[in-house]
Amino acid sequence: MIHLGVNIDHVATVRQARQANEPDPVLAAHLAELGGANGITVHLRQDRRHIQERDVRLLRETVQGVLNLEMAAGEDILSLALAVCPDEVCLVPEHRQELTTEGGLRVDAEDRILRATIDRLKAAGILVSLFIEPEPATVKLAKAIGADAVELHTGTWANAFAHCRGDEHDEQLVTQLSRLEEAADMATTVGIRLHAGHGITYHNVRLLLHLPLLRALNIGHSIVSRAVMIGMERAVFDMRQLIDKGPG
Ligand code: PXP
Repeated sequence: MIHLGVNIDHVATVRQARQANEPDPVLAAHLAELGGANGITVHLRQDRRHIQERDVRLLRETVQGVLNLEMAAGEDILSLALAVCPDEVCLVPEHRQELTTEGGLRVDAEDRILRATIDRLKAAGILVSLFIEPEPATVKLAKAIGADAVELHTGTWANAFAHCRGDEHDEQLVTQLSRLEEAADMATTVGIRLHAGHGITYHNVRLLLHLPLLRALNIGHSIVSRAVMIGMERAVFDMRQLIDKGPG
């Protein structure tokens, strides 16, 4: 079975928009697990624009499945990760002004900081994955530098899908799917776990499910968007009832 990791960062984004207590990503995580999520993914960004340290600590206590922490390789966040000990860490590149993670991690076999970060996380029993562009050479480097898994960045493929509205014969879409397939083949060849994420939706997910030995999908935006929509009617209904009951 392919593991479904639900990324709940956007729930925290709504909370932070008001610096309020709701909606609480910890409760969202609980509901996501009741719905069938095998794990919860959060990105603790350096600018703390959505997920806060408090969330990560509470999620460590409450998540029943796999807790996957996305983070950039930096000393502060590494210390927190080692203290909280999520089940998995996905190392991602981070740029201050970006709307979301743009592009995969640059993996260089000589990168001592990256290697040391991976080693320290692994020594703490944390599974380490690297969020990378779907390139066979980068998959090989991820294996060589000691990562347990790669998460293939599916964003460019997802954009191609949106652009051609899912026309499976579209040249760009075929090219982007081939990139993912070649990277997945390399993951099988070198023996590294295969995850994928970014831009995956209810419309496009089917096209990824044949990737060989795909272990996990991390999906956020599309699921949170749908949650807002399918919950709207009930939320308004509940408020309507309170108003209609009157002051008594
Ligand atoms: N995987 C990684 C490494 C990400 O940075 C993100 C976005 O936070 C996701 C998966 C989820 O992407 P999306 O929100 O587009 O589903």
